[in-house]
Amino acid sequence: MKIKNICCIGAGYVGGPTMTMIAAKCPDIKVNVVDINKSRIAAWNDPNVENIPIYEPGLSDLVAQTRDHNLFFSTDVDAAIAAADMIFISVNTPTKTYGVGKGMAADLKYIELCARQIASVATSDKIIVEKSTLPVRTAEALRSILDNTGNGVHFDILSNPEFLAEGTAVSDLLNPDRVLIGGEDTERGKKAQQALVDVYANWVPKEQILTTNVWSSELSKLTANAFLAQRVSSINALSELCEVTEADIGEVARAIGTDSRIGPKFLKASVGFGGSCFQKDILNLVYIAQTYGLQEVADYWEQVIIMNDHQKRRFAKKIVKTLFNTVSGKKIAILGWAFKKDTNDTRESAAIYVADYLLNEQAEITVYDPKVTAQQIYNDLDYLGTRSGEENRRLLKVVETPLQAVEDAHATAILTEWNEFINYDWKEVYDLMLKPAFLFDGRMILNQQDVEKIGFDVYTIGKG
Ligand code: UDX
Ligand code: UDX
Repeated sequence: MKIKNICCIGAGYVGGPTMTMIAAKCPDIKVNVVDINKSRIAAWNDPNVENIPIYEPGLSDLVAQTRDHNLFFSTDVDAAIAAADMIFISVNTPTKTYGVGKGMAADLKYIELCARQIASVATSDKIIVEKSTLPVRTAEALRSILDNTGNGVHFDILSNPEFLAEGTAVSDLLNPDRVLIGGEDTERGKKAQQALVDVYANWVPKEQILTTNVWSSELSKLTANAFLAQRVSSINALSELCEVTEADIGEVARAIGTDSRIGPKFLKASVGFGGSCFQKDILNLVYIAQTYGLQEVADYWEQVIIMNDHQKRRFAKKIVKTLFNTVSGKKIAILGWAFKKDTNDTRESAAIYVADYLLNEQAEITVYDPKVTAQQIYNDLDYLGTRSGEENRRLLKVVETPLQAVEDAHATAILTEWNEFINYDWKEVYDLMLKPAFLFDGRMILNQQDVEKIGFDVYTIGKG
């Protein structure tokens, strides 16, 4: 079975870059990326590739190379489904905001809508690939919808979770640690699995393409994110202990990271992890464990989230406490709103929660981020519903340059580790700020001694 036509439903952070890479590496495959969001598709089709909706280093060039050759973006979902041999489902699976499992379970309504649409449109056999991160055993529900509502054609279901991290999507897709493909244990299932292996084998070494059963694949994705997030919460828990014992979390991380069993990655203390995946996937894991009556398993993983919420709150509290227990009417500059550097994505970013806490304390905030738009920042705050949209716009200003942000500020807080922040003329920043000039480094990116020498009163996460 050789795949010639791929459809991907969902042109988001996962679907967009992944399909661009497949198109770039498989010139014989026609790739149609479809989405119900018209403006998003229009942005993917913008003649200037710098305006595509997702900022990822290297992505615009790849889109320029492939778009309208074998990569197409469209809102015509039906046509793309009808033409495809293989359909990736890459729509979002947010945490449920209503009903049973509210605040924890993954909301699968978009997945179900996709399955129903595929079933009603398909008039030939299709391989359906779960690309979205899904609860273990979702494929069972997919199978039931497809088989009971379809036109009698055959569907094979694969699980192919995506492990790319934002900000490094292109290099992660180009050189993945592994590609994971879960398939059904039938002859047809094996063939479908092989068809997808063959797609990736165009650029990924065969030994890095792992095949498992569907359930292992679904659960491995949740597990990988839970383990990664757990490392961040573990180091963040110890960062608080460092602050009261004069240990230095950077040194502790280096010391333990050289143990080859522990390894050096994902040991950077921070103001708290964000992103669309970690919290959502852990909550989902906790919910699944609870559903099966495994309360201790659920409690164990929930602690990772509790610790992360604590870390964000503790950072904001530290600012208030340091500024003589009040920030009311004081200008505080926030540098960085994205959940990490090299992305314009702000989902679950620690900055949102730190800003919200400070706004509750009546601070006046100015925000500068190199890639995030003012509209996005206000959307993030409005979504919390803590105060009115007008209040948010009155108390928080988004500015175009870092110097505008820090001018006359009582404090500057670094919340994203953008490289450009490291290279600022911090003396100039100091001169513009009110004195004493407080600097809160939530990402450990500045040399504390250097900025102290300039005159700043510095707090670095994890340093006593
Ligand atoms: C999402 C999930 O967050 C993640 O768990 C999963 O692994 C992959 O999908 P991401 O690509 O970052 O990740 O989401 P998002 O950027 O929101 O993109 C999803 C896209 O699907 C949106 O553009 C949305 O308009 C589209 N969509 C959603 C559809 O086209 N049809 C639908 O029915 C629902
Ligand atoms: C994550 C997973 O890494 C990826 O495999 C999966 O497909 C999706 O979820 P992503 O959310 O894009 O990717 O970013 P990641 O680099 O994992 O960072 C997540 C958050 O953890 C960020 O807020 C980051 O700043 C924070 N982090 C990460 C730390 O605070 N310290 C670290 O050492 C590493």
